[in-house]
Amino acid sequence: MTVVTDKNIILGVCGGIAAYKSAELLRLLVKQGAKVQVIMTSAALDFIAPMTFQALSGNPVRSELFDQHAEAGMGHIELARWADMIVIAPATANTIAKLSQGMADNLLTTVCLASAAPLMIAPAMNRQMWLSEANQENIQRFKTRPLVFLSGPAQGEQACGDNGPGRMEEVSTIVQNCAQMLQDIQQLQVEKQALSGLLDGQRLLITAGPTIEDIDPVRYITNRSSGKMGFAIAEAAVEAGAEVVLVSGPVALTEPERVECYRVHSALQMHKKVFNHLDKVDIFIATAAVADYRVQDIETQKIKKTRDNFTLQLIKNPDILADVSALADKPFTVGFAAETSELEKCALDKLQRKNLDMIAANKVGIDTDGQTKGFEADINELSLFFKTPEDFIKQKALPEMSKRQLARELIKEIAQQYNSK
Ligand code: PMT
Repeated sequence: MTVVTDKNIILGVCGGIAAYKSAELLRLLVKQGAKVQVIMTSAALDFIAPMTFQALSGNPVRSELFDQHAEAGMGHIELARWADMIVIAPATANTIAKLSQGMADNLLTTVCLASAAPLMIAPAMNRQMWLSEANQENIQRFKTRPLVFLSGPAQGEQACGDNGPGRMEEVSTIVQNCAQMLQDIQQLQVEKQALSGLLDGQRLLITAGPTIEDIDPVRYITNRSSGKMGFAIAEAAVEAGAEVVLVSGPVALTEPERVECYRVHSALQMHKKVFNHLDKVDIFIATAAVADYRVQDIETQKIKKTRDNFTLQLIKNPDILADVSALADKPFTVGFAAETSELEKCALDKLQRKNLDMIAANKVGIDTDGQTKGFEADINELSLFFKTPEDFIKQKALPEMSKRQLARELIKEIAQQYNSK
């Protein structure tokens, strides 16, 4: 028994030379105990006969959007609701373009649009088509959709004689990726359920991203923070039932749903925005990598290259976290510590010095393979230090995982500590 066993799967087949491999894909899915219905686009009918899929799936193959016979039985909406997962293999550039735009001009694209099931796309096309700007834009769009996944394409020799990316992924790998996708989705549901209601009715204020300190109209000082950690924490807090305000420095991330989001530039602006939104805040989480210093006198004109060297005078920025935790009626305050060495020592020092309830420490920097740690990466690990109600310091390690998972674990810990205060 595998994760695919007993699952209702729609296998979409588009018109490409790799369509013959879809028969083997279907066979593997059926072998694992899946119930499969096949939808072929009209172009796919030119490459392989529907009878092959009918024989292997034991179900009639559908290709018409308005099929009198099928609409009387399992119409396209029924089909969309029936599916636990949709796999499109091969997925042509044309179908990918339609799906990325939300078009519904044939049975396959209509079912995809009408279904809440996760979608696995196995692209197959000529190398140049795959690399084309338009196709890459369409692919990028999928990356923002939580239930759309890609399997491949693989590299190698192509039917047209080219060599490069665009071959359909091996069918055994597509099956493995489908199983992994279903497992990840199940895991996510479990994680979300564990968070549900933990912060019901609480108001959270979270800072995220870097700040930018201008030098002149074209130059500035900043750091590598991408905002991923802070945005993930905001999302997790919403999942836990909290009302969330997010104040972020300049980042290239889309605003999480159901979060009141404010974008700022400098540390001074972030400080002001935070203090304007502190009213009735129960928990404050400072994930932002705020610049400790700013340029004393920002030049109004671009600095000219007339001197061999010169000195920039920097002055200290206010410490947003320390200022929040110094308030008489301070919220539950959670700081972060980004350290390249002496993680525990520095984190404990910040916990005490800034009078925090909790601190999440992460090792940052660039490792020997040139990979960034903490900053920019999609994964991270945290060491939590917090004060118990008796003022003891306790430690908990959250091992390496995706920033989204880590954020959920952190929110669980924060909720537990906050509720025990
Ligand atoms: O954004 P990502 O790319 O996902 O990266 C995540 C992260 C590495 C930025 C994040 O996990 C993290 O460690 N954030 C804190 C970064 C930092 O500036 O740490 P610090 O040790 O310098 O500051 C200690 C704490 O004081 C932090 O909570 C910081 O937000 C806060 N602070 C610092 C200076 C200042 N002027 N105001 C502040 O509020």
